Amino acid sequence: MKKQEVCKLIKKREIADGIFDFTIESADIAAAAQCGQFLHIACGGYTFLRRPISICDASNGEVRFIFEVKGEGTKLLAKKEIGDEIDVVGPLGHGFEIKGNVRKPIVIGGGIGVFPLYKLTKQLTNATVFLGFRNKSRVVMEDEFDAVSSMTIVGTDDGSYGYNGYIASAMEGYLNLNECDMIYSCGPMPMLRAVKKIAEERGIPCQISLEQRMGCGIGACLACACETKKDGTERYAKVCANGPVFYSEEVTLND
Ligand code: FES
Repeated sequence: MKKQEVCKLIKKREIADGIFDFTIESADIAAAAQCGQFLHIACGGYTFLRRPISICDASNGEVRFIFEVKGEGTKLLAKKEIGDEIDVVGPLGHGFEIKGNVRKPIVIGGGIGVFPLYKLTKQLTNATVFLGFRNKSRVVMEDEFDAVSSMTIVGTDDGSYGYNGYIASAMEGYLNLNECDMIYSCGPMPMLRAVKKIAEERGIPCQISLEQRMGCGIGACLACACETKKDGTERYAKVCANGPVFYSEEVTLND
């Protein structure tokens, strides 16, 4: 169920340079939210468009989302203070599918793509988690993922912290020695392409959360269309309504 609501900001923290961790109060959204879904948030000021921001966590009447300041909208949003009101529509989209028969899940995220994976990891309880960042100063949520997973491996592209290199390579090394029956992923396109390839080569089902520019957020404007392939037929899907989570074989991930 999706609805518009004006919610109070109750927690705010800058967890890395330009990355803000917000918690708002909403019993309805917290109760309805599924992992991988997103909120469509009005940032205020002259930016009329809402911004899609993934739900990081939701429980006990509180909804947490984390975003990076990237443009005018998120810059305005970051200026909100505790006690301010935020106009939110959600939860929206089709999130991650959690199947009861999955025994050895991997969760892999890169950069700001790690945030939509937190609620999922909590729910799975036994995931092996791979988190990749550009460098040490961008590493966030390591302890939180560590506390709710079987194991959390952090890597940086420049080797300044943890595994030295792309996090998809760390996952590939792990898969050479360990079993896995579902991969859940979210992150930058090169990482998603690598994860899709590795999963498909090994016949491991893989769910991918796509980030896409959005307009309406509810399937009405086509701003978020992405190329998909279902049952061998190419077509366009709306990331906001059909996604943001797709199975890897459904999406082509073109440049
Ligand atoms: Fe409008 Fe997806 S954002 S159809």
